Amino acid sequence: MHKPLAKLSATPPNRIMAKDPSLDAAYALETPEDSKQLYAAWADSYDSDFARNSDYILHEAVARHFVNIGGFGPVLDVGAGTGLCGAALRARGIEDIDGTDISADMLEVAKAKGIYRTIRVENLFDGLATPHGLYQGAVSSGTFTNGHVGPEGLHPLIAAVRLGGRVVISVNTKHYAAAGFEHQLAELETDIEDLTTTEVAIYGPSATGDHAKDTALLVAFRRA
Ligand SMILES: C[S@@+](CC[C@H](N)C(=O)[O-])C[C@H]1O[C@@H](n2cnc3c(N)ncnc32)[C@H](O)[C@@H]1O
Repeated sequence: MHKPLAKLSATPPNRIMAKDPSLDAAYALETPEDSKQLYAAWADSYDSDFARNSDYILHEAVARHFVNIGGFGPVLDVGAGTGLCGAALRARGIEDIDGTDISADMLEVAKAKGIYRTIRVENLFDGLATPHGLYQGAVSSGTFTNGHVGPEGLHPLIAAVRLGGRVVISVNTKHYAAAGFEHQLAELETDIEDLTTTEVAIYGPSATGDHAKDTALLVAFRRA
């Protein structure tokens, strides 16, 4: 089941350009084409150079929260990357997971892990090809962040979920405030219910460096 979603007003992102595969470069991306280039360069080493070395734990928090609030499959993982969130869902018993991401290179790494039923290369800004209301739930970890996707990405993600379905996305805490997520979620008040935001650490205790204490908000709701 699905119904038309409220129209969202666009909030133009304020970004600067960078290309090296690093967290600072990722936060400074400017366009979807920049994302493709950076993640093409990062795909093969993302799990080791970034996730393991940074003690990245956000994908685990998203998957845990999704399951804890009653989420179940089939699930769409938006900005699935190399499949870390998909793997965290699988570890919690959810098996029917599809992945979508703008980076074919990141999805190739995910594909090799055998986590997703299907993967699709899609730019969230262009909408998702999936039929409206196909999924029982949707998750996203690390994609609604600086230089990546702003609140304009909520609309296609929500449209993919059937009425009553659960959604959990992480939004970098500074990005949430700067990009106007609160306002855009308020505009969607007739399309979502049971909205909660929960602040969590993006990195674990062994993380070091400027971003070690960065947090994200787990934005959770049901499709209404
Ligand atoms: C920091 S990674 C997170 C990947 C994975 N979810 C995780 O937690 O490890 C951000 C992901 O967002 C994807 N991305 C960036 N912009 C996008 C867009 N406009 N549409 C779809 N995916 C996008 C990138 O390709 C990348 O895989």
